[in-house]
Amino acid sequence: MFAKWLIQLPRSIRNNRSNLSNDLKFEGEGDNQMQKVEYIRKLFVKENDVLRSIEDGLAQRGFPQISVPSEVGKTLSLLVKITGAKHILEIGALGGYSTIWLAEALPEDGTLTSLELKQEHADFAMENVRKAGLAEKVTFLVGDASKTLTTLKDTGRKFDFFFIDADKPNYVHYLEKSIQLAHSGSVITLDNLFHGGRVLDESDQNPAPNALRQVNQMLASDPRLESMILPIGDGVGLARVK
Ligand SMILES: C[S@@+](CC[C@H](N)C(=O)[O-])C[C@H]1O[C@@H](n2cnc3c(N)ncnc32)[C@H](O)[C@@H]1O
Repeated sequence: MFAKWLIQLPRSIRNNRSNLSNDLKFEGEGDNQMQKVEYIRKLFVKENDVLRSIEDGLAQRGFPQISVPSEVGKTLSLLVKITGAKHILEIGALGGYSTIWLAEALPEDGTLTSLELKQEHADFAMENVRKAGLAEKVTFLVGDASKTLTTLKDTGRKFDFFFIDADKPNYVHYLEKSIQLAHSGSVITLDNLFHGGRVLDESDQNPAPNALRQVNQMLASDPRLESMILPIGDGVGLARVK
């Protein structure tokens, strides 16, 4: 029933790094919603040169334009600073756009470990991280995140902050693994929890929206978590591990 509310915004007025979320508006508030997003971006988001260059770099390589939108990057960065996180785990690097927002917020001795399936994505992300002067803090582990998460668990390492942004059908699994790699007070964030509005349309029973409905339910009811969805971008999950 929600499907008919959803209207695609013309590409011309979307932020180029927009995820599905920025395509989403609700009848009667669509233009106004986009105006709010643009207002927020203008006032609060300052991308450095490397962040600004990633969109073109992705296009030149034929990689998808599915980095988080800039206001989500800024929010993640703020959350890292507010929580004082020192060790971040990211799932899904692509060109390193979110990686740079997150790593820039770390203290001097902070680390970010990013799990990425594709070697060519990790190479481009590392190139950007190097240009941003963050190479000493960031490590990319290439391979299927499920396997890497199991290996990380075996090392006994714990992380203070997580950003899950890959492979939607496995989100429940990634959330579970993240909880196992967390400590009390760790923060877990997840992108695309509305999946461009498809999560709201119960008639859409495809694997990705179903998996996201499941992860949203887990965020809302798992006794190990206290959570919320921030209605920015495509819906950003924010959970604190108890
Ligand atoms: C949405 S993009 C990440 C965007 C990035 N977080 C940003 O905002 O700049 C998802 C990335 O996850 C990677 N990916 C997909 N399946 C994966 C898996 N099973 N394990 C690890 N990475 C995966 C893709 O190759 C892609 O680079």
